[in-house]
Amino acid sequence: MQLSKRIATLSGYPFAELDKIITKLKSEGVEPITFGVGDPADPTPEFIREATKKAVDDFATAGYPSYIGSDKFRGAIAQWFAKRFGVELNIETEIASSIGGKEAIFNFPLAFVDAGDIVLIPTPGYPPYARGTEFAGGKPYFLPLLAENDFLIDFAKIPKAIAQKAKILWLNYPNSPTGRNASDDFYRAAVDFCRENEIILASDLAYSEIYFDAKPKSILQFARKGVIEFHSLSKRSRMTGYRVGFVVGDPEIVSAFKKVKTNIDSGTPNFLQAAAIAALTDEKHVEQSIAEYREKRDILSEALASVGLEKAKTEATFYIWQKVPTGMTSEEFAKRLLDPKIAVVATPGAWISDKTENGENPGEGFVRFALVPTVAQVREAAERIRNNLKI
Ligand SMILES: Cc1ncc(COP(=O)(O)O)c(C=O)c1O
Repeated sequence: MQLSKRIATLSGYPFAELDKIITKLKSEGVEPITFGVGDPADPTPEFIREATKKAVDDFATAGYPSYIGSDKFRGAIAQWFAKRFGVELNIETEIASSIGGKEAIFNFPLAFVDAGDIVLIPTPGYPPYARGTEFAGGKPYFLPLLAENDFLIDFAKIPKAIAQKAKILWLNYPNSPTGRNASDDFYRAAVDFCRENEIILASDLAYSEIYFDAKPKSILQFARKGVIEFHSLSKRSRMTGYRVGFVVGDPEIVSAFKKVKTNIDSGTPNFLQAAAIAALTDEKHVEQSIAEYREKRDILSEALASVGLEKAKTEATFYIWQKVPTGMTSEEFAKRLLDPKIAVVATPGAWISDKTENGENPGEGFVRFALVPTVAQVREAAERIRNNLKI
């Protein structure tokens, strides 16, 4: 059986080797604490689960939902957006629901990318920016996120010939995995760069509601023309398994996105829209969640610093982007953390980062900790690190 080139050329699963070590640890009776994948171990808040249960009965006739989200859902999004970012949205033209961020991000390039078109993508970065581009026939051009630039994109370094050919620029702040936020000046520079080169600015705000310092901003506070933003309930409200999100922005771009979507899926299920409405009308659970992530961030980053590692500046998201000790690769350090006395699972930065044009991998030299275990587990991991990690 011949796979399509699209699938056959995809790289393998680099986590297999770590998985093997984890399985071996378990067979020896050691319980690893896993900071690997960004999927919270805590339950979805009860009031959201209750709203979902009720909605299943409210929508007893399980007809197809609206492709773009019900008026009520888009209304709730507009209200939340006005309160959170001070931006008014037209619910007819500037909002569409999605089946979570991944679906929207992956499918979006189909609206604007033709074969061979370039899409500018940060690295390290969320894989669907590149995969969606490639599946649409486009070519990713990777922009490195480097410590020396505060993990922001350096627009001056993008060759003019590339910028002129690019169709989309992906931004993701608060940034996964570096945990950094964008400044107003950076957003202004991004808008100017995209205007000059007629590039669509696609901004992923999946982590906008997990922050420890300044409140992350929406790109729509700086521009609307030429801009689209991707939101998700997954991280804000611990709804990763629900699959619900939305896009907002320039009506022309949102309209093209809707056209793509009506040909791919049949909308966000009604009971999940109801769950999302309940989630968006409450901020208390978000505040509690931030407090908990802050506690976990402090416990783990202090333990890592106490053994001599450079302290990461985690302004937002639930990731710690930890610099590894000098002379070690990110993979070697991740393996060191799997010593049976420590048994802490972190992701080597090199594995979640694509190489740039000059062959460099900006994720090399870092490991990522996703703060998804419970507070008690994070405390236990911190204890193991303090007592057993020798740099
Ligand atoms: C940077 C980033 N964007 C978007 C998403 C999409 O999340 P979801 O598809 O659950 O909405 C994720 C999920 O891990 C992410 O890390």
